[in-house]
Amino acid sequence: MRLEDKGFIVTGGASGIGEATVRRIVHEGGRVIIADLDEDKGQSLVDELGKDAVRYLNVDVSDTGQVEALFEATERFCGVDGLFNNAGIGAITPSADTTDEDWQKVIDINLSGVFKVARSALHYMVPRRSGSIVNCASILGHVGQSQTPAYSAAKGGVINLTRTLALETAQQGIRVNSVSPGYVRTPILDVLDQEALDFLTSLHPIGRLGQPEEIANAAVFLLSDEASFITGTDLLVDGGFTAGKS
Ligand SMILES: NC(=O)c1ccc[n+]([C@@H]2O[C@H](COP(=O)([O-])OP(=O)(O)OC[C@H]3O[C@@H](n4cnc5c(N)ncnc54)[C@H](O)[C@@H]3O)[C@@H](O)[C@H]2O)c1
Repeated sequence: MRLEDKGFIVTGGASGIGEATVRRIVHEGGRVIIADLDEDKGQSLVDELGKDAVRYLNVDVSDTGQVEALFEATERFCGVDGLFNNAGIGAITPSADTTDEDWQKVIDINLSGVFKVARSALHYMVPRRSGSIVNCASILGHVGQSQTPAYSAAKGGVINLTRTLALETAQQGIRVNSVSPGYVRTPILDVLDQEALDFLTSLHPIGRLGQPEEIANAAVFLLSDEASFITGTDLLVDGGFTAGKS
């Protein structure tokens, strides 16, 4: 098992891509703290996978104090060998109609939250000179899409933040990478109707949307020692979305 005796944090681990990653980590022998706001879903995952392997903590990743408490709790439960910095929200509004509040909420969670959780991880990983951080970006960090100004800006920021963190920590035994999913069938897409989903599907040359497990596989690879020479990179898992038009 690739992750035996190792401890992880998965933010946004109660649902979708994060949930699939929690399941994968446990399957590979690791222990996990789920940091999320959806207590019902998080606790039912703990009940299913068992309290020896998984614990849930209510954490808003945009709140510095809650993030620091998350790391203290993780240190007591399983240690912080790896972090999947995955919590995020979707947002669709034309730029001209995006209020300051709309903009700030997305930036606070999808960009500042990623930074705050990564910063706390470094406080534990640097003294030990080991650790792996995987940030969840998006195809929308690589290409623009109308009506997603804050989301696209945040995800582009996550990709370049990842490079900076990787450069700062490469000599300290820590690797920092990101994963950029194409559209994946999770609750974040529940706001879209079937017509919109069909359109998005048509943008993926592979002919379908992704499955959460397909992103989890990439995240766990980057978290694991199999990726020991990979840092500062972004792994697109997008069914060819960003490859161009076929
Ligand atoms: N599904 C897609 O098509 C897609 C595509 C590209 C990138 N992503 C990214 O993947 C990540 C996971 O999304 P998903 O598709 O699994 O969505 P999801 O809605 O199923 O899961 C997101 C989780 O994050 C949690 N969360 C939201 N705000 C939070 C906060 N402030 N603090 C802690 N937890 C919070 C939610 O409660 C939820 O459990 C996100 O960063 C998203 O932007 C998703």
